Amino acid sequence: MIRLHVNIDHIATIRNQRGTRYPEPVLAAGLCELAGAHGITVHLREDRRHITDRDVELLCQTVQTTLNLEMAATPEMLDIAARIKPDIVTLVPEKREEKTTEGGLAVGNPAVKKALKAAVKKLHDHGIPVSLFIDPELADVRAAELLGADQVELHTGDYCNALPGPPRDRELARLLAAAEAADACGLILAAGHGLDYTNVQGMLHLPGLKELNIGHAIISRAVLTGLDEAVREMLGLLWDFEEE
Ligand code: PXP
Repeated sequence: MIRLHVNIDHIATIRNQRGTRYPEPVLAAGLCELAGAHGITVHLREDRRHITDRDVELLCQTVQTTLNLEMAATPEMLDIAARIKPDIVTLVPEKREEKTTEGGLAVGNPAVKKALKAAVKKLHDHGIPVSLFIDPELADVRAAELLGADQVELHTGDYCNALPGPPRDRELARLLAAAEAADACGLILAAGHGLDYTNVQGMLHLPGLKELNIGHAIISRAVLTGLDEAVREMLGLLWDFEEE
């Protein structure tokens, strides 16, 4: 069975847009869990544009399933993870100007490799398993193994952006080869980024896939599937007021 981890960053995006107390990520996490999600994923970004330190601390205390903290391998983030101890950390590359994570870690770059090795060691010293978000390349899977990762999360963005037909088939073939390599290395296999209700089906072909991290599509769907009830609730308040 493939585990579904729901990324709830965009609950916080909506909240932060207005500086309100709602929607509350802790409540959203609970609802995802009640619906059967196997885990909750949040990305604490350097600029705190959505999830905040307060959110991560509360989620660490309240998530009943698995809390996956995505973060860059910076000293600040490593100290936060060491202190609050999420169930697992996923190390991701981070650029301030990007809208969302744009690719996997540059695990072939010597300076990045050095920083990742130290980060994996520090997290392991604090008893925290580590997943590395990588592009679906054989060399990157092997590099992740050598870095001591427990898990790899394959970046599915190129697959999701490719047009259906041969371009998407080529991206799926890259994912398949990387998944086989990860399985052969004994790495736990996860995947994510850009997956939605029309392209997730391809993931069912990945050998050894244990976990998917999906955020934007689920939160977007929830906005539309919940809109009918939200409007009716507001109308109910207006009509009750009129009758008084
Ligand atoms: N996995 C990783 C490593 C990510 O950085 C993200 C986005 O925060 C996701 C999965 C989820 O991507 P999406 O929101 O496109 O489903």
